[in-house]
This record gives sequence, C-alpha cells and structure tokens, in this order.
Amino acid sequence: MNQFQPRVFSGVQPTGNLHLGNYLGAISRFVPLQDEMPTIYCVVDMHAITVKHDPAALTVATREVTAAYLAAGIDPKKAIIFNQSQVREHAELAWIFNCVARMGWLSRMTQFKEKAGKNRENASVGLFAYPTLMAADILAYRATHVPVGDDQKQHLELTRDIAQKFNNDFAERIAELGVGVPNPAPSPELPGELFFPLTEPMIAGPATRIMSLRDGTKKMSKSDPSDLSRINLRDTADEISKKIRKAKTDPEPLPGDTGGLADRAEAANLVGIYAALSGRTKDEVLSDFGGQPFSVFKPALADLAVEKLAPMADEMNRLMAAPDHIHAVLRDGAERASAIAEPILHDARRICGFLERR
Ligand code: TYM
Repeated sequence: MNQFQPRVFSGVQPTGNLHLGNYLGAISRFVPLQDEMPTIYCVVDMHAITVKHDPAALTVATREVTAAYLAAGIDPKKAIIFNQSQVREHAELAWIFNCVARMGWLSRMTQFKEKAGKNRENASVGLFAYPTLMAADILAYRATHVPVGDDQKQHLELTRDIAQKFNNDFAERIAELGVGVPNPAPSPELPGELFFPLTEPMIAGPATRIMSLRDGTKKMSKSDPSDLSRINLRDTADEISKKIRKAKTDPEPLPGDTGGLADRAEAANLVGIYAALSGRTKDEVLSDFGGQPFSVFKPALADLAVEKLAPMADEMNRLMAAPDHIHAVLRDGAERASAIAEPILHDARRICGFLERR
C-alpha cells in the first residue's frame, strides 16, 4: 500500500533458554529472507531488562542469541546482526513513541498482563512500555516486514497504530519538511505522505506457536520451570531424544489428515514440529504417519530433531567458546545499523520540532 523500500527487521530477547519455538517460529525463518531483501536481526538486550535480570547472565545470553543466529545460517555479510543497546536510536525513538502511544493501548497488551501478573503496581515502567521500544526497533529502520511467532501479533498491531498516529499527528510537518514517502492510497486514516510504513507481520508456516511438550495448551517458553517442557537449542542429542520420548501424548494413533488433530493439542504440536523441521506441511507428514502409534512417530521425530538441531548446538558451543567472532559480528552490525537509523532519527527529531545543536 505504500512505497517504502522493503526491509525485514526482527529480534530475539537474550533471556536464556533459547528453545525450539524461538528457532521454528522465528530464527529459522530469518535465514531464507536474507536472500530476498535487506534484513536486520537484533538481539534485543534492552527488552531483557524490563524484568529482574542478572547482568552477567545477560552478557552471556546476548552472545548466545548471536551464536544461534550464526549457527542457524544467517550470514553476517548479508544480514545485519547487532545488539540493540549499541544503537542509541532505539531508545531515542522509543521515547518519542512513549509520547505517541496511549495508556489505553498499552494497558490492553496481553503479554504485559501475563508478565506483570497480579502485582501490576510492582511491574517496571519499562515492562509496561515494552511495546513502544519494539515499535522503535522496527521503525528506526522503516522496516516493512517483521517475521515473528504468533505471540507477537498484538505488539505488531500496536506498531502499526503508532506509525499511523505519528503519520497523522505530524502530517503537515512531514509534508512541509519534505521527509515523507508518497502514499498512493490516501484515506481519512492516512495522509498523502507517510514518514513511517505500516509494517506487515509475517506470521506463517506450521510452527507459529510451538507448545510445551508437557502441556499442549501452554506455549513452549523460556520461563517454564520444567526443562522437559522445551527443547533448548543447546541440548545434547540425548537430551533431545529423552524430551521427545517423554513428551505428553494421547493413546490414539495419528490421524490421516489435519482435521483429525482437532482436540488433540499434544499430537497437533508434535506433528507441527515434525512438519517445520522437515520443511513439509502437516498434511504431508500425516500422509506418511497416519494410523501409526506414537511408539513409531516419536523415534522418527527424535531422529529428525537430532539431525537438525545437534549440529547447530555444536556450532553454537564452538562460537561461544571463543567469542571474538561474535563480538566482531556485533560491532560491524551496530555500525551498519546506525548508518541506517541515524538519518531516520535526524528527520524524526526535526518533525518533532527539537532544536538542533547549532
Ligand atoms: P522472544 O524473545 O520472546 O521470542 C523470539 C521469537 O520467537 C518467537 N517464539 C515462538 N514461536 C513459536 N512458538 C513459540 N512457542 C515461541 N516462543 C517464542 C517469538 O514470537 C519471537 O518471534 N518482543 C519480542 C522481541 C522483539 C522483537 C522486536 C521482535 C523486540 N523487538 C522487533 C520483532 C521485531 C520477544 O519477546 O520475542
């Protein structure tokens, strides 16, 4: 609908326990995009301090996410890989967006409600404002496409709301300064020139929401106290096999098509994992395994998971043992990211009317 240069941005929090959901829902999908358009992949360390954190663990986890990006096949010559705190523009634009977003919008964010729990009064202001920083991550580069898992959908809708309100609130100023991009389809909601794009979420494929291996109604998550609930990206082959063997299932054999997975959350999850790891659809997987018991399907899934994940774990361990390469990648990435974000923030400051240093 508008003419911004296509650009992908996405991010992963360095909060430890990177898992299969992060890989299948996000990181693995980052890889092919690097050959399609300019891509920026961020380690969002500033988001990781919105809840109580251990500084030393944050440093390690920042290296770990970077290692996962590299081990998954993201090429730092093609994609920009960097950590958020090294590029000042994120925090600066987040402040501007704190003054664009409304309290009501942020109060409706389900992730805030979940993370803050019952004791909302005690949550950090940063946790409340988390989505405005996320919008700043994306819009500091005027990114047009954001590949994420299903749990980020609401945050991306908010990002569009913020872009739209900024474009509208400052429409005259954007036109006056000549810093907008023509909008081929102006409407009462959107003026003739836009400063920020309305970013498209990319939430697709069989793995947008990988569930816990212990409870098919709960998302696989970094914070689940049970390690058996998730496959960590640095698990050994034995750990991966054991977790799949112990995964919760039901007594029925697998159905012949996806219609038969309704009301069978655990079975649907394992079939989705198999599909995503093998690059096939769930129906294709079920055409092979329909009618088979889990005693046949689980070992096949374990073999596939080990084949795909174990080499990645080895590579992550290798990179983390001598992190110089990781540091060099992040430094180079931060420089390239700044070069894109700086002129955009320069214009954003002028739009706001901030007096420049003279
Ligand atoms: P985070 O760090 O929680 O998760 C990183 C990515 O993994 C996806 N994901 C999953 N996908 C499928 N099944 C699951 N069980 C699962 N768990 C996590 C997430 O959807 C995400 O894509 N707010 C973001 C980080 C962020 C960001 C951004 C993302 C900050 N700024 C800008 C995109 C653009 C987050 O907490 O992701």
